[in-house]
Order: sequence, then C-alpha cells, then structure tokens
Amino acid sequence: MKPNLQIEIGGVTFKNPIMVASGTFGYGEEFEQLIDLDALGGIVTKSITLKERPGHPPPRTYETASGMLNAIGLANVGVERFIDEKLPFLKKLKTAIIVNVAGSAVAEYVEVCRQLDLAGDFDMIELNVSCPNVDKGGMEFGTDAAAMIRVLQAVREVTSRPIIAKLSPNVTSIVEMARAAKEGGAVAVSMINTLVGMAIDVQTWKPGLSNITGGLSGPAIKPVAVAMVYKVARNVDIPIIGIGGISTWMDAVEFHLAGALGLQVGTANFIDPDASMKIIKGTAAYLAARKLGTIHDIVGKVKTDK
Ligand SMILES: Cc1cc2nc3c(=O)[nH]c(=O)nc-3n(C[C@H](O)[C@H](O)[C@H](O)COP(=O)(O)O)c2cc1C
Repeated sequence: MKPNLQIEIGGVTFKNPIMVASGTFGYGEEFEQLIDLDALGGIVTKSITLKERPGHPPPRTYETASGMLNAIGLANVGVERFIDEKLPFLKKLKTAIIVNVAGSAVAEYVEVCRQLDLAGDFDMIELNVSCPNVDKGGMEFGTDAAAMIRVLQAVREVTSRPIIAKLSPNVTSIVEMARAAKEGGAVAVSMINTLVGMAIDVQTWKPGLSNITGGLSGPAIKPVAVAMVYKVARNVDIPIIGIGGISTWMDAVEFHLAGALGLQVGTANFIDPDASMKIIKGTAAYLAARKLGTIHDIVGKVKTDK
C-alpha cells in the first residue's frame, strides 16, 4: 500500500508535508534547475518587506558546529518587484505557495499583505514576526503576545489568505506565543525561526558576522525545535509546521512524532538541494514499511507514558 502524504492546513491542500523554509530557497526560481519544484509540498519565499532591502554588509553567514549563523538583514526585492518579477514564476508551479512577510511596524505588514492580496494567486501568508536580525521591530511582534495579536488582527483585515504565524524561539514561553497566534486568527504556527547566536574569531578578535549577532540554524537547533513543537502540540490546539535542523527523513519523522503536521527544510537546502526530495521519499518508505496510511498516523504519537 502506498501511503498518502497529503495534508491540509487552513483549507490549503499540500501534496506532502515538506515545504522549503523562508530565506533558504530564494524565490523558488533559483532551484528550478536543481530539483522538481512541483514535487514539493510547498515553497515559502524569502521574507518580503514594503521597500527593497540590501540587507547587512558581509560577512552575513558564519559556519558553526553542526549549524550556521546568519544575519542577512532581510535582504529582499520589496513587495512591488516581488509581485512583478517573482510571483509570475511561482504562480505556474503545482505546489502550495506561501509568501513570507516581514515588517518593522504593523502598518508595514498591513501594506505588504494588502498589495499581495490584490496581486492574487498564491495560497498562504507566513508572517515573520520573529526575525532576530533587523535593527528595530523585527522581534517585538514575536516576543510580545499582545503585539503579535495586534499585527495578526490588522493583517487579517486586508487579506483573505490564511495566515501562518512564524514563531521565535527567543522567548520565555513559546506556548504563550502560540496561544497568541491562535487568538490573533492564525490558522497555523510555524516554528522555529533561528536562535540568537554569536561567534568570535580568536585571531582577529572580531565577531564572525558584520551584524555582531545573528540567527543560529541547522542540526544544532533541532532538539530545541523538537522540544518546542512538543510543548505547543500538548498545550495549544493549532496545526504546527515544524522547522529547525531538518535534514533527513528521520528528522522529519521525529518532528511529526513530536506533533508537527507540516515541516519546513531550511539550512539543509544549502548542503544538498535534493534534501527535501529525499525526505519526502524517506517518509513515504517509513510509513509503508510500518503499514501506516497517512501522516496523521504518526503526528503527535510520541510515547511519553512512564
Ligand atoms: C540564510 C538564512 C536566511 C533566512 N532568512 C529568513 C527570512 O527571510 N525569513 C524567515 O522567516 N526566516 C528566515 N530564515 C530562517 C529559516 O526559515 C528557518 O526558520 C531556520 O533557519 C531554522 O530552520 P533550519 O535549521 O532548517 O535552517 C533564514 C535562515 C537562514 C539560514
């Protein structure tokens, strides 16, 4: 029996749970020659802001043990160029398209979402309320429950698209933030964004990143992400899209068992552009070997009874 990998989140159907994470897959077209984009469950775009942003000066990435630091600074083409130059390519694909939106004020989130909504064809918005690498604003919405509810409610006024709230791990209670996301009207939470980190070159005594601190991603953060997914799954009734160091189908299954329905592959795309394809095939083989019919047969099924 061939397992059915299809899932549904907020009324949107995904042919499988594997999406590619914001900022690690450009605008999709960069990977066209490398993998079959239509085979993905979904593509999440780089964060889009109102104005084009050059981002931070180099060095913007720094390799660490089992991971990497980045402080790209939300470099992106801005919403107008995104709609004119990037969205037409994405619209043609047979996969769910999720546009990730960032901003430094409620008004910026609202204006970007308003323009996107008018531009039409895409499936969902992922609100990046959790970027740790911008000078002001980026984190506030992700670390203050009331601010998150405010931005979600304001954005919902201008868009009919279902909204995913992308949560920051740099908080005291991720459960409280997931509850706020639900209260604000998000159809799902995606988690986690990067953890604040820093590296220093011992020869030059300079920080590894021009921005001094940045976001840690990759296998190093996976156990943190799995624990957070588990906690939210146990405490908040909202679909979870798991993110954080997913590189193999075993990582994917681990996140599903912790409670994630959908998944996003990030840093692994830089190491092996084919990683997401291997994860999709590996997950299907795992379910088939255990005679399980759907992803739902493993979501949240971690055995924690003593
Ligand atoms: C180079 C780089 C750029 C990123 N840019 C964004 C971004 O623009 N918006 C966003 O929401 N997340 C961004 N992220 C965070 C990822 O989407 C993801 O949440 C994080 O890297 C954890 O997943 P991973 O360990 O699989 O990479 C970026 C990550 C990396 C490594």
